[in-house]
Amino acid sequence: MHVLVMASQKGGSGKTTLSGHLAVEADKANIGPVALIDTDPQGSLSHWWNAREATSPHFAKVHLMQLGEALEELRKGGIKLAVVDTPPAVTDSISQVVAHADLVVIPTRPSPHDLRSVGATVDIAERHGKPLVFVMNGATARARITGETAVALSQHGTVAPITLHHRVDFAASMVDGRSVGEVMPKSQSAKEVRDLWTYLQDRLSRLTHDTKFLPDVRPDLSIEALTSLTEEPVETGPEANSVPEPVAVPEPAAETAPIRERRALGERRTNFATFGGVERRTHPFGRRAQDRN
Ligand SMILES: Nc1ncnc2c1ncn2[C@@H]1O[C@H](COP(=O)(O)OP(=O)(O)OP(=O)(O)O)[C@@H](O)[C@H]1O
Ligand SMILES: [Mg+2]
Repeated sequence: MHVLVMASQKGGSGKTTLSGHLAVEADKANIGPVALIDTDPQGSLSHWWNAREATSPHFAKVHLMQLGEALEELRKGGIKLAVVDTPPAVTDSISQVVAHADLVVIPTRPSPHDLRSVGATVDIAERHGKPLVFVMNGATARARITGETAVALSQHGTVAPITLHHRVDFAASMVDGRSVGEVMPKSQSAKEVRDLWTYLQDRLSRLTHDTKFLPDVRPDLSIEALTSLTEEPVETGPEANSVPEPVAVPEPAAETAPIRERRALGERRTNFATFGGVERRTHPFGRRAQDRN
């Protein structure tokens, strides 16, 4: 089992949004059963999952200090990927969570406040010798600060080549327990999340030397593919943060919610139609995994 930990000291950087979205995406990628773990007492991810109709990915609310035992249980239960959401803090307990990570994802908004706070999270990852990757979230297309943030972050570690832009559909889709890929599968936001997951899956596979975990297609990191993500205008005003329709807020999760039924291990898909379909596979970065062996 691989463990992906979302961590950042800065509140509101996108840890919970990324946790839910990446777990749903991983669940679709046929890597085996995926579990989401909420270690944040705020319980935002628990509320999201309780509002969700689908029973996968699996879910557990776990106290930070009991994460080790919880992960062991999930491992024994056949879970192949655990995605851990953490509270906005830099404490000993966050450090303990990072100690379990195969890869630490640090969502960062392109803002001076976020940049100032990344150092503390980077320190924790480095202390544990854990690989990290920054994911720029909430970016405005073509804004100068987005590029400047990427350069600044690259001084501390790897920056994911896929940026999540500021779009209301990320927030709106989570209102009823879904992800943007489930609500608007053809949207740019959904494509960004799909591409980000494929990139992270590829990275996790390499870091853990687990060839079975390789995505069926490699991330398309061509200039054309990356710039196509910024062609659509994105919302930048205050209305971009509003969620359209008020809905009933579900009951908070119990302290340790049981893991619901496990999905049977499906066969690995041979036709992974991410990244714009078959034509893209001819691109040097779009080769199928088996082509490289
Ligand atoms: N790319 C995006 N575009 C628009 N809104 C976003 C985006 N990413 C996150 N948001 C919104 O920003 C807010 C904060 O995001 P989120 O809760 O994921 O951050 P967080 O790091 O988990 O916060 P906390 O540190 O408080 O746990 C939420 O309302 C979320 O819907
Ligand atoms: Mg959160």
